[in-house]
Amino acid sequence: MELERLVDGAERILTLNWRDGFTVPTGKLYPFQWNWDSGFTSIGHSYFQLDYAIRELQSLFSGQWENGMLPHIIFHNENEDTYFPNHDFWGTHVNPGAPQRPKSSGITQPAVHGFILENLLEKFPDNEDLISFVKHIFPDVVKSHRFLYAHRDPQREGLMFIFHPWESGRDNSPLWDESLERIEIDASTLPHYQRWDTRIAPSDERPTSYQYDRYVYLLQLGKKYRYDEAGIFEESPFLIQDTLMNAVLIKSNQSLINIGKRFGLDVGELEEWQQQSRSCFKEKLWNHELQTFAPFDVRGGGHIAFKEIGGLASLYADIPSPVQAQRLNDYLWSLHGRGFYICPSFDVDSPLFDSKRYWRGPVWSQMNWMIYHGLKKYGFVETAKIVRSDLIELVRKLCFYEYYEPQKSKVATLTAGYGGSDFSWTAACTLDLLKDGA
Ligand code: DGY
Repeated sequence: MELERLVDGAERILTLNWRDGFTVPTGKLYPFQWNWDSGFTSIGHSYFQLDYAIRELQSLFSGQWENGMLPHIIFHNENEDTYFPNHDFWGTHVNPGAPQRPKSSGITQPAVHGFILENLLEKFPDNEDLISFVKHIFPDVVKSHRFLYAHRDPQREGLMFIFHPWESGRDNSPLWDESLERIEIDASTLPHYQRWDTRIAPSDERPTSYQYDRYVYLLQLGKKYRYDEAGIFEESPFLIQDTLMNAVLIKSNQSLINIGKRFGLDVGELEEWQQQSRSCFKEKLWNHELQTFAPFDVRGGGHIAFKEIGGLASLYADIPSPVQAQRLNDYLWSLHGRGFYICPSFDVDSPLFDSKRYWRGPVWSQMNWMIYHGLKKYGFVETAKIVRSDLIELVRKLCFYEYYEPQKSKVATLTAGYGGSDFSWTAACTLDLLKDGA
């Protein structure tokens, strides 16, 4: 695909997936609004219609809970029944602070919206509509961070926990295998359910049924406690201080501080969170043996020691010391030298690596977008260029898919990416990287 046709293609997909107020990630597989998807997607819309970018974020925040939790799915259309788990299965009415409408899931996702707002403001610094929208939504975004610090950080360390793999954004990463293995499934108590995803996407590109049983188990656990963190913290066998979740939160804290200072808003609370989070991340999550950041398993009491893509997101949040950043850059550079598009989502040398199965190996556009910006900030310009051009090349060859094969030799034999097609954030991130013109 030629570059101009890529821009047209990205616009076509964003228009195709627009649903009168929000954007679905892809028409069939994910027919509602997803939390972190919609952040990246709003950047894409801003190139053609800034008001769509604003409406996208307004729609998302219309599902925010009273306690500040920003759900990972907003079910704007209650009649759409081709997705599991749908709003009725989540049953979030058990929590009195969940809005009646729109219905939502009961878990959250990476808190990208602070840095998305800053990115939009950098693009349109003087746009009055955008400025007034940002001022209006600022307290709600801060509230979503306050929720994470107040309810997901009971030891007050500055690092939030997740209790479901779907919250991490990296659903079936091998990172979570050991924690999920702690869960014994009793078939007589697990509710009957039917997956839709494997009817729409090839099953060897999706999580396994073993994993889905455990996703449903953890959903039920959340519901049992009315999605209240205190009980979940006591009981959940899956409790992780994740790298990507915390890096994104730290990046967004900083963006909100920058925005607040520009508009004369109070940023004291944000600065306190930020100071503690940044130093705790840098120390607690750095794995000396692997020379990368690794999630901390609260139940297991140690690192989940794998090289994978979440640790690299720290670059975008300006967390690593120069030495740590150099190690992360070396890792990317070595993968490039070995014939991989960078960056595969999981350690290519691990027996758990699977180059086509969702988060067990493929390349993801939004991750490349964050890593690209992080590398640039640290001055690793050559690596940044490769991260950018690798994604663009994958999209040119294989179109706008959800994720991509990372092995160059294998890509040469393929005509499509993996997972959902006509994918919104792939369109948005590619478009933004094209416009960046590194
Ligand atoms: C899915 O349905 O696979 C989503 O990633 C869960 O949010």
